[in-house]
Amino acid sequence: MPVDTPDMIYPQISRDLLGWYDRNARILPWRAPPGSPPPDPYRVWLSEIMLQQTTVAAVKPYFDHFTRRWPTVAALAAADEGELMAAWAGLGYYARARNLIACARAVVAEHGGRFPDSEDALRMLPGIGGYTAAAIAAIAFHQRAVVVDANVERVVSRLFRIETPLPAAKPQLHRHADAITPDERAGDFAQAMMDLGATICTVRAPACLTCPIA
Ligand code: ADE
Repeated sequence: MPVDTPDMIYPQISRDLLGWYDRNARILPWRAPPGSPPPDPYRVWLSEIMLQQTTVAAVKPYFDHFTRRWPTVAALAAADEGELMAAWAGLGYYARARNLIACARAVVAEHGGRFPDSEDALRMLPGIGGYTAAAIAAIAFHQRAVVVDANVERVVSRLFRIETPLPAAKPQLHRHADAITPDERAGDFAQAMMDLGATICTVRAPACLTCPIA
């Protein structure tokens, strides 16, 4: 029997995880079903900003209200700031709401109302950092981007038995996340890692017996 090398294991991890995602993806209002064309970048951006430090359950009603009230980035750019801040009330971290308007206005003023599709250009926009730029590029534009949030850090550290504590482990965790990110379907892969972290590889009670990549 040949010994498994990392070169053999990395593609197997993404295949197994994507197969699991095809069967188990959570249905969420900002998502496209696994394997389908990308969703509207505006909805991806809005959801990623709302989901920072906030749970999926808390975000859902806000996302529904915002997308009904302001269905496009141009509509959001033209929003009354007082109304928008009031609509945000309850989600917390109000700097996100102020950046939301600033970002929508920048997309309209600098990009003709369309989100740019590269991580570098996305990162130049207000409120979009490394994680969010990678998530939007991968999910909304089907680019290969390495998406690392706290869920991904936890999954990767358990998978590769990284015992270095955070934040020192961050570069190492990013390298491993990069190694297992596939060239195709990086957006589905990122969301599969998030779903795995939320439902199986949880903080306190990981269900390793049902893990597709244990
Ligand atoms: N948390 C942050 N982004 C997410 C996404 N796209 N799906 C589920 N949870 C998330």
